[in-house]
Amino acid sequence: MKTDVSVQTQTPLLDALQQYSSENILSFDVPGHKKSGKLKALTHFFGEPLLRFDANSMKQLDNLSNPTGVIKEAEDLYAALYQYDEAHFLVNGATVGVQAMILATCRPGDKILVPRNVHKSVINALILSAAEPVYVYPEMHPELGIATTVSFHAIKEAIDENRDAKALFLVHPSYYGLCCELESIAAYAHECGLVVIVDEAHGAHLPFSEELPTNAHYAGADLSTISVHKTGGALTQAAVLLANQNRIDSSRVKGILNMLQTTSASYILMASLDGARRELALFGELYLREVLNLARYTRDTLNEIDGLYVTGKELTQFKEVEDIDETKLVINTIELGLSGFEFYDLLRDEYQVQLELADACNAMALFSIGDTEEGALRLISSVQDLASRFRKKPLSISHRFFDIPDLVLSPREAFYSHTRVLPIVEAAGQISAEILTLYPPGIPIVMPGERITENMIEYLSLLKNENGMLVDLGDPNANLIKVVI
Ligand SMILES: Cc1ncc(COP(=O)(O)O)c(C=O)c1O
Repeated sequence: MKTDVSVQTQTPLLDALQQYSSENILSFDVPGHKKSGKLKALTHFFGEPLLRFDANSMKQLDNLSNPTGVIKEAEDLYAALYQYDEAHFLVNGATVGVQAMILATCRPGDKILVPRNVHKSVINALILSAAEPVYVYPEMHPELGIATTVSFHAIKEAIDENRDAKALFLVHPSYYGLCCELESIAAYAHECGLVVIVDEAHGAHLPFSEELPTNAHYAGADLSTISVHKTGGALTQAAVLLANQNRIDSSRVKGILNMLQTTSASYILMASLDGARRELALFGELYLREVLNLARYTRDTLNEIDGLYVTGKELTQFKEVEDIDETKLVINTIELGLSGFEFYDLLRDEYQVQLELADACNAMALFSIGDTEEGALRLISSVQDLASRFRKKPLSISHRFFDIPDLVLSPREAFYSHTRVLPIVEAAGQISAEILTLYPPGIPIVMPGERITENMIEYLSLLKNENGMLVDLGDPNANLIKVVI
């Protein structure tokens, strides 16, 4: 990573917040807790320093809606570090960044190429923007039961068949740490006049090691969003939208962000972005070297356990998988006789070890710059013990896939259609008006506008039996679904 590290030692927003909190300013402003010790429960729980840093926008602290002072300086440091023309702080995670990237690029009716296995924020952005999705289907891994990535060939075909498309949306890396042939895909999309938007929610750490996949900037992205809170060390919800100006209207990106974001952005979140960036710039390479060593050691050791397979670089044997992020350990549990959900629950309930996600065949451990050797050893010994205590007969995985449904209406048309509510088990053949997501990873099983199938209903009942967390339907128990009349 080439950057001027001496500039990156600065923390303009953190400094301004610290200065503000040290001054004896009497507040007749929001927030109503007034930084004081009067509200004992709040102060006791969070500690007095946190309340002192919880400020409202003001002259000395700048304003996220129109940053010209310390927030702008802190954003510019991100732009310099990640080598984009501009950066925008986000206080509603990569979710709001994904939505803003699409809304800033597509007008109603514009076509956007989208892999089918995107995060639900993309589908919600399609509903909001009225952009028309052209779904590109990812390749499936035959044993892991997960999508790998979209291939260059599939994207090229979709671009060639939709020469009027406005934008291409890509996810890099995927939730499972898999990366598509980003550079060649982006180059072809640009050649054909498309804007390249990258959901890099899982990629804030990529620029800090040559041994990690290339980051979207080097592959030519016009817009990218990084969840700094996921792998970059900021607090939960803190993220950054990065933009290059030559194909993008900057004022539109700003305007859309102001439509979507709060007018009361949390300084605690934004200051955490400032601090995380300094830490990454100064120590990122060292931390990532340590993390990669820990993750590789853990992967190799877990792979010695009979019945477990932890994925690694061998996944690049699939042509569409250009690279993998080795900080993600996808643990395939099928041979152990446990579903990913059971493995995930056992590890949590019996060993107090929390993994990032589970699906029908796998559970996944995320390593990041906060991990320690002690933690890795505890994960290893817990999994070794779990595998010896709970081993069963290997599971058959044939019923652990579901066919991706056909798109009948655009997500927006379906969302705004007249609807009725049906038990899901009776909904085969109907067009869904709702999104139904397995969370994590937050990838929709059915989207508004798709036709519900018998095979999907069977898959859902498997997920329910195994305690998969199904979210986003109006019915919190995921028994009922709204369908288009
Ligand atoms: C691929 C992808 N994009 C976007 C998001 C949304 O990120 P956030 O939780 O920071 O809003 C997620 C969240 O898990 C994700 O996995």
